[in-house]
Amino acid sequence: MTASADKPSDNQLANKSQAWSALFSEPMSELVKRYTASVFFDKRLWAADIQGSLAHAEMLLAQGILSAEDHAAIESGMAQIKGEIAAGQFDWKLDLEDVHLNIEARLTELVGLPAKRLHTGRSRNDQVATDVRLWLRSEIDELLQLLSALQLALVEVAEKNVEVILPGFTHLQVAQPVSFGHHLLAYVEMFARDAERLLDARRRVNRLPLGAAALAGTSYPLDRERVARTLGMEGVCQNSLDAVSDRDFAIEFSAAAALVMVHISRLSEELILWMSQSFGFIDLADRFCTGSSIMPQKKNPDVPELARGKTGRVVGHLMGLITLMKGQPLAYNKDNQEDKEPLFDTVDTLKDTLRIFAEMAAGITVKPEAMERAALKGYATATDLADYLVKKGLAFRDAHEIVAHAVKTAIARGLDLSALPLAELQKFDARIGEDVFEVLSLRGSLNARNILGGTAPAQVRAQVARHRARLAA
Ligand code: ARG
Repeated sequence: MTASADKPSDNQLANKSQAWSALFSEPMSELVKRYTASVFFDKRLWAADIQGSLAHAEMLLAQGILSAEDHAAIESGMAQIKGEIAAGQFDWKLDLEDVHLNIEARLTELVGLPAKRLHTGRSRNDQVATDVRLWLRSEIDELLQLLSALQLALVEVAEKNVEVILPGFTHLQVAQPVSFGHHLLAYVEMFARDAERLLDARRRVNRLPLGAAALAGTSYPLDRERVARTLGMEGVCQNSLDAVSDRDFAIEFSAAAALVMVHISRLSEELILWMSQSFGFIDLADRFCTGSSIMPQKKNPDVPELARGKTGRVVGHLMGLITLMKGQPLAYNKDNQEDKEPLFDTVDTLKDTLRIFAEMAAGITVKPEAMERAALKGYATATDLADYLVKKGLAFRDAHEIVAHAVKTAIARGLDLSALPLAELQKFDARIGEDVFEVLSLRGSLNARNILGGTAPAQVRAQVARHRARLAA
């Protein structure tokens, strides 16, 4: 009977003894077998496992440890296995514990003795650490592409909305008017830093454990640098104990991934608020929303809500991984097998979320009138009046106090500052002139912040150009 690796269950477990040793006098309990096996999730590493094995075999050949015939047999066997797995025809066996032993056993079936020589100078401990690193490296590369695509989508919406005025908030209270484009570019900055972090983590992911063997290195004259070159790795792990045991590279990646999700979650929260009836600043395309089974009028922003929720899951994986490492003595411990599922789920969640956000951003409907109406409500240009008085010679603190009185009067009258007659404004300070009305307008306020990093449309356009150039490079 053959156990399926997809859905382990007691009656699927075979009774035959373990693949790894004749030392054991009784078979593993079925529950323990299921508890310790990893093939039903780590089979996902198959391509990296084969890639690592081929690089190892090529080096064994170059070092005269493996004959040309053995090497050729391993290559052709692996080619067939690749085909079988890709076609979904590979018979993953739970009895064989993990992806490494499954592939090795199939290779042995196919080519015999040469397959048994492949593991020379290698342990599953350095093998699995290599596989995870190879797999993660290529996932990081995909994530970087997706992060660029999302940034570009946001830059495009920002470019179209440079002149659209949004109330900028502090404490979720109307603070000062900002360009909607400027607001979106704040997220582009966050995602750009996320990409930097991933790229930086990639350098430490991309180092080779192979050659560390079980924990102490090996007595065979392996050429570790050669394997690193074949695999496109930037270096070789310099301490065998460290090489097989630490998963800091995975933790670091997870931390960077958690920050991506935190940024996505902040954006989600804003999209949800903006789409609500109380704000009415934007609309999301129907294909990203769902209705209610009871309230016919509802259109709910499910995608941003779910993304906000999935942030908890990714942050949770970071906690899981970092706790997994804590308290492990050197060198390899089976605890490390638990690194895979959180990593896989983190990568899957991030990839889906980034893809969906790039599409959703591109399909956003902006409602400039609603934004402008809201910006007019909260005395958003009060600071501009204070700055105006400073230019007329007042100290900022005094100007601040005068404007507070003006705002109090405006509130009592139910008017915006710009709607107070000049004579009324001049009661607060005689230096106020006709030119104040330009200053008190939302657009005047926006244009005035013409400083590097500020919200003036000229600055926002310059940032759009900078991001476009950066993302095209
Ligand atoms: N499946 C194991 C893992 O994911 C592979 C390494 C097992 N090594 C060992 N000595 N049991 O970590």
